[in-house]
Amino acid sequence: MSSLAVEKNIFSFILVLLLYLLFSLLQENGGACASADEAAALFNWKTSFQTQNTSLLTSWNLRPMNHKNASGLPQQCTWFGITCINGSTNRLNLTNASVKGTLYNFPFSSLPNLEYLDLSCNELFGTMPPQIGNLSKLIYLNLSANQFSQEIPPEIGYLTNLLVLHLRENQLNGSIPASLGNLKNLSYLSLYNNSLSGVIPPEIGNISKLLYLRMSINNLSGPIPPEIGKLASLQSLGLSKTNLTGSIPKELGNLTNLTILYLFGNKLSGSIPRELGNLKSIMTMELQKNQLTGSIPTSFGNLSKLKTLFLNHNRLTGSIPQELGKLTKLVVMAMDHNQFSGHLPQNLCPNGTLTYFAVHNNLLTGQIPRNLKNCSSLVRARFSGNQLTGNLSEMFGIYPHLHFMDLSNNSFYGELASSWGRCTNLTTLLIAKNKITGSIPPEFGNLTLLHVLDLSSNNLSGEIPIELGNLIFMLKLDLHENLFHGGVPQVLGLLTKLLYLDLSINSLNGPLPGNLGYFQELYLLNFSYNNLSQKIPIQIGRLTQVCLLDLSHNSFRGEIPSEFGNLQNLEALNLSHNSLSGLIPKNIAQLPGLLKIDVSFNNLEGPVPYGKAFQNVTIQQLQGNRDLCGNITGLQPCGSLSEKPVRKKGHKLILLIVLPVLGAVLLSYVVAGVIISSARRKRCRRAKDGNVKDDDLFSRCIFDGKAMYREILEATEAFNSFFCIGEGGYGRVYRAELESKKIVAVKRLHHLSETADRKAFLNEVNALTEIKHRNIVKLHGFCSTAQHSILVYDYLERGSLAKVFHIDEEAKKLDWKKRVNIIKGVAHALSYMHHDCSPPVVHRDITSNNILLDCDYEAHVSDFGTAKLLKKDSANWSALAGTYGYVAPEFAYTMKVTEKCDVYSFGVLIMEVFKGKHPRDLIPRLQSSAPGDIELEDLLDQRLQYPAQKILEILMPIIRIARSCLHVDPQSRPTMHFISRSLSVATPFPGDLDK
Ligand SMILES: *[C@@H]1O[C@H](CO)[C@@H](O)[C@H](O)[C@H]1NC(C)=O
Ligand SMILES: *[C@@H]1O[C@H](CO)[C@@H](O)[C@H](O)[C@H]1NC(C)=O
Repeated sequence: MSSLAVEKNIFSFILVLLLYLLFSLLQENGGACASADEAAALFNWKTSFQTQNTSLLTSWNLRPMNHKNASGLPQQCTWFGITCINGSTNRLNLTNASVKGTLYNFPFSSLPNLEYLDLSCNELFGTMPPQIGNLSKLIYLNLSANQFSQEIPPEIGYLTNLLVLHLRENQLNGSIPASLGNLKNLSYLSLYNNSLSGVIPPEIGNISKLLYLRMSINNLSGPIPPEIGKLASLQSLGLSKTNLTGSIPKELGNLTNLTILYLFGNKLSGSIPRELGNLKSIMTMELQKNQLTGSIPTSFGNLSKLKTLFLNHNRLTGSIPQELGKLTKLVVMAMDHNQFSGHLPQNLCPNGTLTYFAVHNNLLTGQIPRNLKNCSSLVRARFSGNQLTGNLSEMFGIYPHLHFMDLSNNSFYGELASSWGRCTNLTTLLIAKNKITGSIPPEFGNLTLLHVLDLSSNNLSGEIPIELGNLIFMLKLDLHENLFHGGVPQVLGLLTKLLYLDLSINSLNGPLPGNLGYFQELYLLNFSYNNLSQKIPIQIGRLTQVCLLDLSHNSFRGEIPSEFGNLQNLEALNLSHNSLSGLIPKNIAQLPGLLKIDVSFNNLEGPVPYGKAFQNVTIQQLQGNRDLCGNITGLQPCGSLSEKPVRKKGHKLILLIVLPVLGAVLLSYVVAGVIISSARRKRCRRAKDGNVKDDDLFSRCIFDGKAMYREILEATEAFNSFFCIGEGGYGRVYRAELESKKIVAVKRLHHLSETADRKAFLNEVNALTEIKHRNIVKLHGFCSTAQHSILVYDYLERGSLAKVFHIDEEAKKLDWKKRVNIIKGVAHALSYMHHDCSPPVVHRDITSNNILLDCDYEAHVSDFGTAKLLKKDSANWSALAGTYGYVAPEFAYTMKVTEKCDVYSFGVLIMEVFKGKHPRDLIPRLQSSAPGDIELEDLLDQRLQYPAQKILEILMPIIRIARSCLHVDPQSRPTMHFISRSLSVATPFPGDLDK
């Protein structure tokens, strides 16, 4: 028995031993499996992602065979975003890895050593599972910038090792768990930009190590818990835009380490606690957009590190404490939209650091602080909407960085100082509604970055300075309600970016310049209540973006331009109280958006046209005219015409019949798009010149003008200024690369001549397309639609002679030989047009702007004959015949353009080509003095070497020709034929002899 018992014992022993071995084996395996589990569990989570194609996670693959890779590490330790310690996952960082999925399969219980979890900036959604509380070793948890929704699990309060918790920028709702108060080690907590609701749990005050607390942009309610004042280490507190109510707890004054305090955009009320003056580290304090009352505590003068202070948009009262003058570091100070009264602190900007200062819309009185005069750091300043006073010419200095200054709506008096002209970074200057006198200093023309100038409702007088024409970036110019007199300066037409132009209620007189039609984006044009006279320029009809057009209460006469029918965006048109006559153009009635029209008190007659604009018109908008009729209460019906005197009746009948017919014809003409080409008639003789360039490109323009036109519209993005390569009297020139890769220059015309001449015009253009000469820019065709009229020319690479002369580098490339060639080329072109065409074609506008150069510097004359066709009745006389400085003197009294006018302009051009710029005052000397009186050097371009004797021998005869061209008596000038011949036989250039 005993042996049996012994055996049994041994057996038991062996069994136990075996079991132990088995167990320890299992144990060992179990230890090795922990990492395998981590990899498998993480891989399992990965398979739940909605997007598997995220390339960053391609390394996340399970190898079935061997749990260990070559380096002996558990496989997940080599995966992207994973860092291991002792073979276990310590850090998981998938920030910005395009992960789209949930945390439902996240291995919360398989990552026992995870300390850092960063899943920020992905597309994770769904709830945050409560199991997150199992990651007990977490130090860092960042789930920000995802789409997590629903509540923050209170279990997060178990993560007592957390130093950093970022849940910002999700869609979390529900209340903030009080358990966050358990996170005793937490330094950074961000919950901003979610939809969290409820009150801020006072337990937040227990997170005693907190440095950074941000909860802004949520839908919280209730007050700021005073317990936040216990966070003694807090450096940054953000509770803005969270719908908080109640007053600011005075306990916040205990946060002596606080550098940033954002409480703006809540419903905080009550007064600002005096204790905030204890925030001795504060640099940024933003309390704006609340309902705070009371005054600014004088203790704010102690905030010696304060750089940024926003108190705007509250209900603060009292005066702004003088103590703020002690804030030597202050950069930004916004107090606007309160009820502050009294004087501004005198010492503002003590150290020249203030850049942004806003006190607008308060009840401030007294003067601008004296210190501000030397505060050269200012960038933006707003004083508007107070009762500030003082002599404006004395209180401001020179601010080299100033962008924006608003002094409107105060009681400033005195004059505008010329020193404003030295604040050359100004983009906005607003001084409306004050008592400013004197005139606008011409130095305002130096403010070339100015976008907005509003001097309205003052007592400014004098003329509008032409220097304003320099302000080419101007978007809004408002000078209304002043005492300006004189004419409307033509140069205002240069402000082509203008959106808003109001010169109403002044004493401006004379005509409205036609070039105001350049404003491509203008939506408001108001010249009402002035003494403007003459016709309304038809160019106003080019302002296709204009919504409000008010020319009322002036002395305009003539007819309402039918071009107003182009103002497709017009909403309100006021032409009342002028002396306009004739009929109301029918097309105005058809304008789609016109809601309000007033033509009362003019001399208009005839029927009120039928259309949308006149649908709800009342007699008040039509009264006081000579003879309007129509089916409107207060007007006589048009049928009663027969009662009128016979003469009038006849006149009207003709108009009534002819105009609609003419209108319909013209309309169909315009809408269809009119294309002229060279296929039909020949007027000029065939070109004798063998160098005529072959060109069949524009056959398409002949047969399908609309397609051609569309192609040009596309190529220039509907005449986007990006493609603009120049600008002349008739319009802008655009470069268009067509589908065929051919490049053309498209001249977009400001307007065409009177419609009555249209047929003649088309004939003329037609003839011009037939001209072929190596020195004349080929005109391919003309297209006209309701929006645009364009002339299509050959494109020349080097642009105009004027442009080349403008750039020193380019001008130097034009040596004496090239210059003589240019003169010869132009002479040949003019001779051909004057003498080989029947009838002769006069250019009318020979200038260096119209001479274009090709790659070889060969001259090509552009715009032949078009001067005559365009701008026939422009207010700008020079457009009638040429450009100032080139026009023959006799034109001033004969007003007749002859070939001899071109000869004169050619003489000017020769001198310009030699001198490299317009000869100006040399012309009278060339005309009067005997040869030899002028130093030759004065006539030659200083940028080139003084010509050698051989070259001088070629230049001298050409200068003699120029003198004869400039003869005051047209009859004494030579013909172009003669000039062209003389130049041809002139001595060839030295180099040419070798050829
Ligand atoms: C995660 O990686 C990003 C850059 O890849 C880094 O900026 C961030 O600090 C990392 N987060 C953690 C917790 O290591
Ligand atoms: C703001 O808080 C009030 C209570 O103080 C609440 O009635 C209101 O709904 C809240 N508004 C938002 C947008 O959460």
